[in-house]
Amino acid sequence: MSSHKSTNIDDLVEFEENIELPITNKTHKIKKSSSAKLSLQKKQKLTAIKSRIKRATAKKRISKFMKSTKPQRQSAFLNAICSDSGICIGFGKENKKIKEFFDGFSFTYANPEVIRIGSTSVNGFVNEISFERLGYKSHGILKSAKQRYSDNLFYEYIVGTYFINEQKKYFPCFVETYGCYKYKDTNAYNEFEYNNSDSITKKYKYKTITDMQNKLIPIKGFSDGLKESCIQPTNIAILIEHVKDARSLEHMLFYTSEFHTDDLVTTLFQIYAPLSHLKDNFTHYDLHTNNVMIFKPFQNGYIRMHYHFNDSDIISFDTRYIAKIIDYGSSFFMDPKNPEQNSKSFYDLLCRKKECNPKNKAPCGVNDGYSLFNPKNVHNYILTSQRNMSHDLRLFRLCNKNTPIIDKIIENIVYNGDYGTPEITENAFNPKNGINSSINNVTDAYDILKSIIRDELKYTNYDFASKNKQYYSKNSKLKKMGDLHVYFDGREMKYESI
Ligand SMILES: Nc1ncnc2c1ncn2[C@@H]1O[C@H](COP(=O)(O)OP(=O)(O)OP(=O)(O)O)[C@@H](O)[C@H]1O
Ligand SMILES: [Mg+2]
Repeated sequence: MSSHKSTNIDDLVEFEENIELPITNKTHKIKKSSSAKLSLQKKQKLTAIKSRIKRATAKKRISKFMKSTKPQRQSAFLNAICSDSGICIGFGKENKKIKEFFDGFSFTYANPEVIRIGSTSVNGFVNEISFERLGYKSHGILKSAKQRYSDNLFYEYIVGTYFINEQKKYFPCFVETYGCYKYKDTNAYNEFEYNNSDSITKKYKYKTITDMQNKLIPIKGFSDGLKESCIQPTNIAILIEHVKDARSLEHMLFYTSEFHTDDLVTTLFQIYAPLSHLKDNFTHYDLHTNNVMIFKPFQNGYIRMHYHFNDSDIISFDTRYIAKIIDYGSSFFMDPKNPEQNSKSFYDLLCRKKECNPKNKAPCGVNDGYSLFNPKNVHNYILTSQRNMSHDLRLFRLCNKNTPIIDKIIENIVYNGDYGTPEITENAFNPKNGINSSINNVTDAYDILKSIIRDELKYTNYDFASKNKQYYSKNSKLKKMGDLHVYFDGREMKYESI
């Protein structure tokens, strides 16, 4: 053992034989008898190795500890930063962490109970599912279909996961899609549908989460989902973000006196600013007052919203309401970062799937809730596989609530029927014409709302800024809770609470 190499090995062997690994907090001893025999050089090497191993072992212990306590730490963090998960999810704050904490909202952390929201409609029914882990809670909405011809929920899931979930990082007006499932069998479907059909809100409890999980099978992958969606469209259910204490815009307009003219202006602005930005990439095609939910994050508080068009062009206003668009089952989409991912390519794949097109001829999927993709049979100008930047003005037209400024704009919206209109790509809003401008498409809608908020709209003496200030920042009963920044240059939205 005379070579330099073997001396090192000697050192190590001796070291391992004589050092206690730092399993506990005890100090680590080297046997005096053997250390005395070591040369000075050996001693130095030993000390170096000892401290290296000590560091490595400590690192391993810390990492083991961190791993085993990760859920607790995550829970403590979320409770401190996002005590109300509904608010954080609604503002896109710590969204990723919350989702990860609940294992992607798989049913692992679901409570085994199903709570019905509303009653079964012509198209389907909606249940609320609650999630809980280490005392931290969140909610989801499980949406199911009733009719074979209702918009296919698998497509709604695709719009969500391929388009909306990304846009939701930037714009607060969208809701996230979490998952897609199929009911195990008719019994499972019936349990979720009938559990409380005779009352407004009632719970149905399963004995264990496994009992509930057994009823819903996760869809694995695109191809499997597409196939299942055509075999039995009503068997599909999707899990989406729950809009906390949601009221529809319809309800707010006609039954809530506190929802005043300014709130309607800013609600429409929250919708049409993103829709204008995405006019080539997204058309909702079913945008009406029951497909916009109004989220009121704070009982007695408001938020200051800032829309940053670029660094010098910012629109700010106060509001207690965040508008959320739901129900993407008829929507056209084209992913801006990946344009070949779009509704048309979805339709092409659908037509190649034998379960969706058994006779291998168009119209494919027509009896499976995919009829709005068929270019040969278009009703109300809805063609899911194609953009229409005028169609979503339908919502604006339905906001007729005897608020003179909005009603005046509605008079000038160019719209062909009650449920749809052909696309007009030319913009008509002209600041010179002010309130008398024609409104041809979502960009015109956004432009006119922007000029109201900036108090620049001609031929009207409506003073938005002072009214907004009067109602919110000068109202002693309402407290400012935070600032929400929305950007149009690719930066994700940011919520800063006070
Ligand atoms: N994410 C959500 N958060 C809270 N409530 C929701 C959510 N999604 C849906 N709802 C409630 O369920 C209802 C029906 O949902 P949705 O509009 O998506 O389905 P639909 O297919 O249009 O059914 P319907 O024919 O009843 O409108 C909504 O009007 C709303 O009351
Ligand atoms: Mg709806």
